[in-house]
Parts: sequence; structure tokens; C-alpha cells
Amino acid sequence: PRNAERGADGVVRLAGVDVRELAETYGTPLFVMDEDDFRARCREHATAFGDPALVHYASKSFLSVEIARWVADEGLSIDVCSGGELAVVLRADFPPERITLHGNNKSVAELAEALDAGVGAIVVDSFHEIVRLDRLARDRGVVAPVLIRITVGVEAHTHEFIATAHEDQKFGFSLAGRDAAEAARRVIKAGNLSLVGLHSHIGSQIFDADGFEVAAHRVIGLLAELHAEHGPAALESLTTVDLGGGLGIAYTAQDDPPPPMWLADQLRAIVTKECEQAGLPVPKVAVEPGRAIVGPGTVTLYEVGTTKEVALGHGTGRRYVSVDGGMSDNIRTALYDALYDARLVSRASDEGERGGAAVLSRVVGKHCETGDVVVRDCWLPENLAPGDLLAVAATGAYCYSMASNYNRLPRPAVVAVRGGQARLLLRRETVDDLLRLEMT
Ligand code: LLP
Repeated sequence: PRNAERGADGVVRLAGVDVRELAETYGTPLFVMDEDDFRARCREHATAFGDPALVHYASKSFLSVEIARWVADEGLSIDVCSGGELAVVLRADFPPERITLHGNNKSVAELAEALDAGVGAIVVDSFHEIVRLDRLARDRGVVAPVLIRITVGVEAHTHEFIATAHEDQKFGFSLAGRDAAEAARRVIKAGNLSLVGLHSHIGSQIFDADGFEVAAHRVIGLLAELHAEHGPAALESLTTVDLGGGLGIAYTAQDDPPPPMWLADQLRAIVTKECEQAGLPVPKVAVEPGRAIVGPGTVTLYEVGTTKEVALGHGTGRRYVSVDGGMSDNIRTALYDALYDARLVSRASDEGERGGAAVLSRVVGKHCETGDVVVRDCWLPENLAPGDLLAVAATGAYCYSMASNYNRLPRPAVVAVRGGQARLLLRRETVDDLLRLEMT
């Protein structure tokens, strides 16, 4: 987070709030969000893309009612991809015209709820859905604004599970297989759908522009084809090209991600150039960042419970540091081999003092599973001890939102810090919460 500071006593303060107080008041593990960091990133994206409404916060990365309010406050749009996410956003009184519904298998109920709420756009992902949505819109006497999700055939250089635009995966209409052009044909013909945009999302945690450029190029290629086939009058409503999310963030000191301004400039330049060359009206360029907005400003606080030295042979060893959470609050290490770093934040370390050194450590959770690793390798002080607080940075995106109750652990609380004050956004689950679905 931008507002993290280590005092002379070695204790870290987040937006002026002492981490020891946070742990004391709210318990650990604890997600601590720097609200100003979140809002600053919203604004940076809004400035970069020229209009806050063109920046759709991808709520799957992290969502609560309060977060939706911040996003609304900053003028951004928001993406949801389930009825659950939609319900949270509506609870926040988010302006419906700035909500977009995503998903490759939205239920009839989800589509109906979105139409009834009057969302700004629905991104269609299959031929079945085009028929379904048209019928639901007709039943309601409305015209549904639709974007078509296109599979542009780009291999984003990221982990296989989070790359989404190569051909052999479940999302979107294939460009190469001509499904995208056919989808546009059917949407244009449908009586209760209005084609307002083309959509592509190539993957996540991306650091270079190449994939985005190819995607933009191919989307504009399709736009040109559609103009040739249908003429400008049929496409008057098609004013937006949404190039999805995916801008990477720094998880460790080694990462050096580009700023949103850079991405915006690249994307706008290529869209403008190609449209002008093809004699097409230049569409607005929208994006859907999740991680780049919410990821960097959040840390997870854990308390150290035990440490253990394990001999690896040849005189080497590894220190296992067990904390009070794990794969239930951060599955990313286990699932994607994600890299994180952990720091001692509750006191000064012994490093450099009295001969103290940093020890190569593995931070592990408390789950009954060997793969329950939070940080694979990090350097922590030799005298690390039970009761010390560790912070893992950049845990704002896809940690809480993918949290589980594995081993019946209650999900952690989430607090926001700002100007020396902490505020609870989501309370910690209790044992009663864990038992609430039981029928006996
Ligand atoms: N738009 C669409 C259509 C998406 O599918 C996603 C992410 C985003 C936007 C936001 O992407 P972002 O800017 O946050 O990278 N659980 C994985 C990431 C899965 C992302 C799924 N879709 C992780 O923990 O890395």
C-alpha cells in the first residue's frame, strides 16, 4: 500500500494505524485495505482512459457493499459475473446503467435480474444465450444492450489457468471459426437486443502490451467486417470496444508492472489508428481492471504460531513458519504458483543486530495439506517467534474473493484504513456462521 510506513520502532503503520492494534482489535488473519490507495488507483485509471465510466472495476477480484460504494463514488463502472455479485452491487445502490453482467453460463434468473435492474450492458458469450436473453427482454418489453465476447486467439503470457483468449477454452465466440461474425448477425437481427460493443479479455497479470495490441487489432478487424456486411446504420449503437482486464501488479520487489496510463495510451493509439485507416468511426475504449485497482493496496496480517527447522541434507535446511490462515484465505500460491513476500511488521527485527541474520523461510498455513503454502520463499529474521505479526502484501485481488471455509476455518475480517482510522468492512466469520447451513 502507498500509505504503509515502518516507524523507528520497526512497527508498520498502515494509513497511520498500528498493525498491532489492528490485530488486537480485529484478530488475525486480517485483510487490511488502504482506502486511499484503492481510490487513487481508480482515479489513475479514470484519468488514463479519459472517462471514469469507461473503466469497469472487475468486482470478482474483491467485492463488498462498501467497495461498490467507493467505485460508484469515483465514477467508475463495475462488472459483475453472477447474481451474487449483482446483489451486492445493487445493495450499494450502484447506478445500474454503469453495471455490466458477464459470464459464460448466466442462469435465466441472473439474466432476468440484470434486465429488471436495468444494467448498462450484458456481455453475451454463447448462441444459446443470445436466444435466451432476447426472449427475456421481449417478455419485459425492453431492449437489452449487448456486447459480444470475442475469442481473439491470443496466448497471453501468463499462467494457463488464467489465460482466456486462446482458442481452446470456454469463453467467447471464436473469431477464427467465424462464430463472432455469426453472433453479431444474430444480435443485430434479434428484436430485443441492441449491439453496443465488442468485448475481449485475454488474461490476467500481464506486463506487456503485445497481447492487448493483437487483441485490439483483431477486434477492429471484426468491426470493419461488420461494417462491410451490415453498413453503418445497423451498427450505430456499437460505440464501445472493451478490451477487458489483465494489467499486472507487483507481488514481490522483482516485479515491475507498467502504469495504467501506458496501457491506455497503447490501446487508444492502436484502436484510433486502425479505425481511421479502415474509415470506421473510432469507438470508445473501455477496460475492466480488477487486480490493478484493488490488488496492491491490501495486505494480509497473520500471526506466527510455530516455527520449525527442517533438514534438507548437505547441511542445508528450511525454516517453516506456520501462520493462522493459509490456503483458505489465499489459494493463489497453491493454485497458480503465485509469488508473494512476507515481512515482520510488529517489531524491529534482529537482522544486523547482535549478529542476527535473515533466514530463508517458507510461510505455511494451518490447513491439513502439504500444498498449503502462503509464501514459498522469503527472508525473515532469525529470531522470528510465535506472536510476531507477518504482513503479506498485494493480497487485495483474488484472495478474499476466492476464500473458502476449508477445514472449517472462518473467513477473516476485512478492514479499511484511512487517515489513522480503521473501519470494519466485513466481519470475521464465527463458528455460528460455519454451522448456519446445518439442518440438524
Ligand atoms: N474482465 C473479465 C472478463 C475477466 O474475466 C477478468 C478476470 C477481468 C476482467 C479482471 O482481470 P484482472 O484485471 O483482475 O486481471 N483468480 C485469478 C484471476 C482470474 C481472473 C478472471 N477474470 C488470479 O487469482 O490471478
